[in-house]
Amino acid sequence: MRRPIVVGNWKMNMLISSSGHWVEELLNTSDCAGTFDIVVAPPFTSLSVVRKSIEGSKIQLAGQNMASEAEGAQTGEISAIMLKDAGCDYVILGHSERRQYHNESDELINKKIFLACENALNVIFCIGESVGEHNKDKTNDVIERQLFDGLQGLKEDQLNSLLIAYEPIWAIGTGHTANPNQVQDVHSFIRSLCEKSFGKDLARATRILYGGSVDSQSSSALMAQPDVDGLLVGGASLRSKSFYDIIKSSFKGD
Ligand code: PGA
Repeated sequence: MRRPIVVGNWKMNMLISSSGHWVEELLNTSDCAGTFDIVVAPPFTSLSVVRKSIEGSKIQLAGQNMASEAEGAQTGEISAIMLKDAGCDYVILGHSERRQYHNESDELINKKIFLACENALNVIFCIGESVGEHNKDKTNDVIERQLFDGLQGLKEDQLNSLLIAYEPIWAIGTGHTANPNQVQDVHSFIRSLCEKSFGKDLARATRILYGGSVDSQSSSALMAQPDVDGLLVGGASLRSKSFYDIIKSSFKGD
């Protein structure tokens, strides 16, 4: 069984004071019980305060990015071991904003995934096509390339901690959530690629998340798809109330 998961990606938002408050609100006003995971990815500056605030709760911590080198002269970078040290269990890698605005290549992302796996971080590996690629029906080609290049050289036993997030770029921050049936088609394609490269067991166990303008209106139809195992939420995770509404509508039965 794949344990469902909701991840809140705050991106470059929230100061230290509001970060602690967000967690307090979520824990005070909400019942987060149930057989699913909740992960929050604050900016690096808020990791410490969020770590303290989530103590004793089921909420887990993620880094939004990570260096491609293990340590050393890399001014401004944060390493895998530093993320572990700061209390992170997860790291988001290959996000389209990193690819687009920071020129991250599949090769670089591959190096990061290696390091994250070596350091026992659960990797939320983001892939997805642009609007142009989508309109030209290139989605599957892009997904296949990003998946293959990003995971090149990794062995099945290194990938136990891999999660894949399908995030069509045209859906991120635009208010246009992808159609749940189309999301299912892409997720099932991703699972078939995993099976081809890494075998049935790994493909069956790998959690595949959807991200792109998820809100409490769209979340339950997305989570109802057989190959949608979780959600990666950006904008709607910035307020604890709207994040909780997504959790509530996604896991009504739990
Ligand atoms: P969004 O962002 O929910 O604001 O579209 C999702 C993401 O980029 O992870």
